Amino acid sequence: MSKIFVDACLRKETPYTPVWMMRQAGRYLPEYMKVRAEAGNFLNLCHNPEKACEVTIQPLDIVGVDAAILFSDILVIPHEMGMHLEFVTGEGPLFRDPIKNEEEVDALLGGEAAADKLTYVYETIKLLKEKLPEDKALIGFTGAPWTLATYMIEGQGTKTYNICKKMMYSNPDLLHKILRKVTDVVKFYMIKQIEAGADVVQIFDSWAAAIEPGRYDEFSWKYMVEIAEYIKERYPDIPVIMFPKGVSAFINMGGVYGNFDVFGVDWGTPMSMAKAKLGDKYVLQGNMEPCRLYSKEETTKCVEKIQETMQGEGHIFNLGHGILPDVPVENAIHFVSECKRVSKK
Ligand code: CP3
Repeated sequence: MSKIFVDACLRKETPYTPVWMMRQAGRYLPEYMKVRAEAGNFLNLCHNPEKACEVTIQPLDIVGVDAAILFSDILVIPHEMGMHLEFVTGEGPLFRDPIKNEEEVDALLGGEAAADKLTYVYETIKLLKEKLPEDKALIGFTGAPWTLATYMIEGQGTKTYNICKKMMYSNPDLLHKILRKVTDVVKFYMIKQIEAGADVVQIFDSWAAAIEPGRYDEFSWKYMVEIAEYIKERYPDIPVIMFPKGVSAFINMGGVYGNFDVFGVDWGTPMSMAKAKLGDKYVLQGNMEPCRLYSKEETTKCVEKIQETMQGEGHIFNLGHGILPDVPVENAIHFVSECKRVSKK
């Protein structure tokens, strides 16, 4: 049976434009909160394939999206490279010993050995393959090396990125050494997710916009392209989605290149601009401002506008970044059904 989401990624004809939401498995769903409470905490949930599988499937049943995204987190990668990850309630992820020098990079586990430690992720994917309806796709994912490096260097989320940027401008070789090591782990990680059963993979560069446009290629995009090309050489039929958030200027400067299938458009980039610059080469995914979900009327208006621009061609509906925890579930259901309504052929 064909999967509408995979077909759309490969620009094949579909009965409507498929839709999913970034961060669709999470705290806005009471059903998620229940399973997380049973698991004890977020990381236990990531480490428990049965429960991770359950929360991966929830948004398909509850919200009606066309694809499931593996339940995990981008930060399990540095965790398995040897940096101890904690989640501090109300404050997000924390690495208590961020990377400061070359010796600390050398001490991290690298390459396939690090990717091999993420067995719970592959187990979750295998379970999902048994449980997912045949017409629904499973999206695997990773963080982009740059986005992962921001947490590895700062130790936590940051508003200014001053520690990584100090490294970027005063010791770029050290930053490249970190990015290289992470890239080499991520290549194996992606292949192993695909071999476990992921139908599509997405690379999240959530903190792309922290880099000035003229340096974005050097410190992030080229590593993402290297990962995408590594995947496409081995698995040409597996769609690869790139999501660099907040890089309108980079798109405008013609910086986007590489062998991948889908470009995720963030909510700050006009869809019409993305279409003009990239629409011939890549299927576009996106891009409703996630806060529109607080109003059903504003959601409908935005979905109609995106449909008017994309006309159901070379397009996948999504938000322009992740759904927030206080969005009413019925509004998320409304978004998904409106995407299907306006794009029905
Ligand atoms: O449906 C899904 O997308 C579920 C899988 C998923 C999670 N994190 C679960 C999660 C995915 C794809 C991610 C990616 C992720 N993680 C990114 C890139 C995507 C993006 O949103 O930009 C980033 C930057 C992270 C790092 C991270 N993980 C942060 C900053 C936080 C704390 C802030 C927050 O949103 O809670 C997390 C925790 C996290 N990852 C939660 C979930 C469901 C919340 C944990 C909880 O309290 O249950």
